[in-house]
Amino acid sequence: MKKTDTTIKIIENIEIAPQFYRMTLELTDAKNKFKVGQFFNLKILPKSNEILLRRPFAPSEILENSLSFVYAVVGKGTAKMTRLLAGDKVEVLYPLGNGFSIPEDKSIKCILVGGGCGAPSMLALASHLKEKGFTVHLAVGAKNECYLLEIDKMKTASSSIVIATDDGSSGVKGHAVAAAEKIINNLDLSDKVNLFGCGPEPMLKGLATLATKYQLPCEVSLEARMACGFGACVGCVVKIKKDNNDNFVYKKVCKDGPVFTANGIIWE
Ligand SMILES: Cc1cc2nc3c(=O)[nH]c(=O)nc-3n(C[C@H](O)[C@H](O)[C@H](O)COP(=O)(O)OP(=O)(O)OC[C@H]3O[C@@H](n4cnc5c(N)ncnc54)[C@H](O)[C@@H]3O)c2cc1C
Ligand code: FES
Repeated sequence: MKKTDTTIKIIENIEIAPQFYRMTLELTDAKNKFKVGQFFNLKILPKSNEILLRRPFAPSEILENSLSFVYAVVGKGTAKMTRLLAGDKVEVLYPLGNGFSIPEDKSIKCILVGGGCGAPSMLALASHLKEKGFTVHLAVGAKNECYLLEIDKMKTASSSIVIATDDGSSGVKGHAVAAAEKIINNLDLSDKVNLFGCGPEPMLKGLATLATKYQLPCEVSLEARMACGFGACVGCVVKIKKDNNDNFVYKKVCKDGPVFTANGIIWE
């Protein structure tokens, strides 16, 4: 898909949990402009010297003529984003990165594992897989009940969902990877299963270990601090195994990723 850099109107920008916002952007024919797992780089307008670089985000919903994403307020860029209103404009460079591999075999059961602010991007993947006719099971982890972002939409987009919270305020007490293992153990031994994940690095590392334990294919979407977002600055590299002898190559998360095979990553 051709990269586009364009000014887009904000339809909605609302707080959905403490310090978490959903922004919806007007984008004609959005479904044909993104592969799930790809991301975009957003520039806050009006341009200022205070915030020069764009900020990378992954869609949580890709509809016919709009795209939404959920963002955590972590620094000065996202803080400034919270002040944008419906009707304001942002500049968006898209689509960036590779996206998830969608299996050919529709009998494969897809287990999607999302944690923290990575969980909403699993909603976009769940909706896409469901639309393609796959059975989707979701394992979602959050600090507590308040931070189960877009959970009702996730329930609609999946056949089953196991929620895990750190304090047990919703679902089981524990982490998303334990929730994913629960789903695996409830499937038939003969089921073919693929794992997909997005969330904090310790969660993804745990998911890679789970995939190795059950010998399941697993793709994860990584986050790295980014500057350019399209392969020019080498600011976002990750070590990827080259062979079974501890040799590795550096890959750019923004261009070669953000989606990588989980057990190909050298976790540090
Ligand atoms: C592929 C990808 C998808 C992402 N999707 C989401 C999402 O859907 N929702 C969400 O809440 N967050 C997402 N992030 C993280 C998000 O980009 C950062 O939280 C955001 O850039 C922080 O900006 P800031 O100005 O508030 O923070 P600051 O710390 O002030 O940012 C300073 C600089 O560091 C960069 N930076 C800081 N944190 C990150 C980070 N984690 N990843 C990449 N660059 C960073 C900023 O872009 C900026 O250039 C994603 C990151 C990547 C790489
Ligand atoms: S952010 Fe510049 S190469 Fe990845």
